[in-house]
Amino acid sequence: MNQSAMCGVRIAGSGAGIPARVLSNQDLERMVDTSHEWIVQRTGIERRHIIDQATESQATLAGQALRRAISNAGMSPSQLDLVINATVTAEMTCPSNACRIAHEIGAAPAGAFDLVAACSGFVYSMNLAESLIRCGRYRTVGLVGCDVLSGSVDYTERSVSILFGDGAGAMILTRDDDARRGCLYQAMGADGSGWHSLYMPRRQQEVPASDATNPIPIGLLRMNGREVYKFAVNKFREVIEDAMAATGLKVDDVAQFVCHQSNIRIIEAAMERLDLPKEKVHINIAEYGNTSAGSVPIVYDEIRRLGRVGEGDVVVFIAFGGGLTWASSVWRI
Ligand code: ACO
Repeated sequence: MNQSAMCGVRIAGSGAGIPARVLSNQDLERMVDTSHEWIVQRTGIERRHIIDQATESQATLAGQALRRAISNAGMSPSQLDLVINATVTAEMTCPSNACRIAHEIGAAPAGAFDLVAACSGFVYSMNLAESLIRCGRYRTVGLVGCDVLSGSVDYTERSVSILFGDGAGAMILTRDDDARRGCLYQAMGADGSGWHSLYMPRRQQEVPASDATNPIPIGLLRMNGREVYKFAVNKFREVIEDAMAATGLKVDDVAQFVCHQSNIRIIEAAMERLDLPKEKVHINIAEYGNTSAGSVPIVYDEIRRLGRVGEGDVVVFIAFGGGLTWASSVWRI
């Protein structure tokens, strides 16, 4: 038996970074033609947190979440072998934010890179890191999902600006002697034919003819809400059904489903179709909105702090988003 077959993986710690500044539905009512009632009814969002551009950034928020996760794990930054930062809002494409975050928190010379898979990014990073640890190549990996979409949203336009908040969530994954711990099943998928349903063009040439009249300026986030909604409702159900069929698990065997927070109607539609009990699906979208790559680890950190997950529990992580992408990760934690 080689080392990979003998080693398990555990989530040693988690943490979150949420900006103090709040952007409420009432604030948005003063900025665009919308109402608190419309936003709550269509999305479940009541407020979101956004950074103060003068003092905060994607890197500071991600660093805060990662520091908290390291502290929760009872480790020191120098124990990290690798830092993966899932984001679509890195300040620069070169260098990656992960390099700067790893340096700032004292994890250098750990390997560091950004991973781009939009709202699915954190679950992609969990799957990747778990595999690297399980095969024996790395011992401890710091993961951080963080998006600061407030810098990429047109706040004069009502359909996109109401949805997103800034936030970061982090996890420390580390080798465990018990090979039964860790990921039981993982799936990652993408369908690039739907890329223009959610995208941030850098040049006019990238805008498809079908979106030529979109008033949102080049450089900012554009979305076909109805297309994304249809994709998300169907994919959410499919991804969970696939994970349950592949593992043979039943809903009763699962302690928690940790779901990307895109829209309360998308989550509730999946819960209804799959008969998922309320107490197994933590929803925090009212407070944070859609934090993209931050949403799954922020939910996990909350349920850990609430004591809703414990050693030996099965937890299913699910996300979907721009790309279009989707991912699942079924864990015995
Ligand atoms: N306030 C008031 N009215 C609005 C607003 C607003 N903020 N935005 C749109 N409207 C209006 C529209 O103009 C339209 O008016 P009309 O009927 O006079 O033409 C009406 O409301 C209905 O518009 P729809 O776009 O059909 O509204 P819908 O019920 O689809 O809700 C929403 C829009 C909330 C964006 C929804 O489509 C959605 O949540 N889609 C998924 C988006 C998403 O999750 N994106 C996240 C990124 S990827 C991911 O996380 C999976």
